[in-house]
Amino acid sequence: MIAFKYSDEVLKRFRNPKNAGTIDKPSGTGTVGNRTCGDIMELFIRVVDNIIVDAKFKTLGCAAAISFSDVLCDVVKGKTVDDALKITKDDLVEILGGVPAPKLHCSLLAVDALHKAVEDYLKRK
Ligand code: FES
Repeated sequence: MIAFKYSDEVLKRFRNPKNAGTIDKPSGTGTVGNRTCGDIMELFIRVVDNIIVDAKFKTLGCAAAISFSDVLCDVVKGKTVDDALKITKDDLVEILGGVPAPKLHCSLLAVDALHKAVEDYLKRK
């Protein structure tokens, strides 16, 4: 087994993800999976007047995937849908204080789930 050296921020969010959970009657949901590792993330968003007012996630995955999920939820809250879509995986990596190179791909789960949740929201509107 390979042991990775994670930043304090990754470890904090992995051990105590404050946005873990679901939203009752969400405005949109997005589910994505990584075919290689098998990790899955489901994102729930609540949108009011085009602002994402709440975001929660359920992630079956590695420490990085859970940390990226948690930080994404924090970052999108309070943003317009359009501004939320401008968030990149590099933004999330920076907020987390970096992740080991083999774990960079895990950030895609969060960004892709956001895009799917927004797509779902726009379809439901
Ligand atoms: Fe699968 Fe991190 S190893 S998303």
